[in-house]
Amino acid sequence: MALPTPKENTTAVVTGSSSGIGADIARELARRGHGVTLVARREDRLKELADELSQTHHVRTEVIAADLTDATSRAEIPGEIERRQLTVDILVNNAGFSTMGAVHKGARDTELSMVRTNVEAVVDLCTLFVAGMVSRHRGAILNTASTAAFQPLPGQAVYGASKAFVLSYGRALGVELKGTGVTVTTLCPGPVETGFAEVSGLTDQEAGESLPKFMWVPPAQVAKAAVDALSAGRPVVIPGSANRIGALLAHLLPNSLLLPVLAKQHPALKGTWKEKPGAH
Ligand SMILES: NC(=O)c1ccc[n+]([C@@H]2O[C@H](COP(=O)([O-])OP(=O)(O)OC[C@H]3O[C@@H](n4cnc5c(N)ncnc54)[C@H](OP(=O)(O)O)[C@@H]3O)[C@@H](O)[C@H]2O)c1
Repeated sequence: MALPTPKENTTAVVTGSSSGIGADIARELARRGHGVTLVARREDRLKELADELSQTHHVRTEVIAADLTDATSRAEIPGEIERRQLTVDILVNNAGFSTMGAVHKGARDTELSMVRTNVEAVVDLCTLFVAGMVSRHRGAILNTASTAAFQPLPGQAVYGASKAFVLSYGRALGVELKGTGVTVTTLCPGPVETGFAEVSGLTDQEAGESLPKFMWVPPAQVAKAAVDALSAGRPVVIPGSANRIGALLAHLLPNSLLLPVLAKQHPALKGTWKEKPGAH
């Protein structure tokens, strides 16, 4: 099933589009003629991207500054879109972040914020927009999970579980929506060089050394694979063949064998790793 044909009054909402994968997904959608509504907290960055996309691809761009951790801020998004007389045909729930380190050393507030951003916001925005899509018989939803969704992840326990939720939720939602004209695709990237490592408290070097070079996929390539899969109505996309093999192995190997190896290799659980100020 192809993506809904862009119209003057339709838009693709892309959360987490102030940097990294989300910015490139917005670029990819705009390149294909879709108007975009950019959502994140850093409004200046969103405005910069909005200018770039309207000038380069001549599409309508809108900016909504919102903190997706906050239910009140999220609840204002549909009204903001309605006020602009736009209809959401494509919803990309991409905003997210991770903490690093053992749960017993973590900060309660940050761990809960992660659940609110990575899980609660995805459920909230899907629920807010999916009924309208079904009634119009057109819509496509893209949720960003991770290859961390395919097995528990010691060192990022909450993050891995949040992404397992996104994958499970997206798969179930996609089946529920069969025949309605609305599709759901879950994007499961492996490592991607973005602002993600810095936000989680790793240096670029620590992040780079944590996984082999051949697993890293550039954000633009991840975004293209994601939008291609969304266009094809595929339920799950894992960019990069090494990451596809890794996800398959994680699925097949017993946790009793896999998890001790992952814990041993995780940079945030190694004896030398020190939590960065502000990381949690
Ligand atoms: N990079 C990787 O290796 C990797 C691998 C697998 C999956 N992922 C997933 O890919 C997605 C995008 O991450 P990225 O790698 O592109 O990292 P990034 O460059 O740090 O981008 C994260 C985006 O999420 C937004 N965001 C975070 N908290 C938010 C909040 N409370 N409210 C609104 N927006 C918020 C950020 O915007 P503001 O700060 O402006 O609000 C930013 O635009 C995430 O869901 C991440 O879990 C990343």
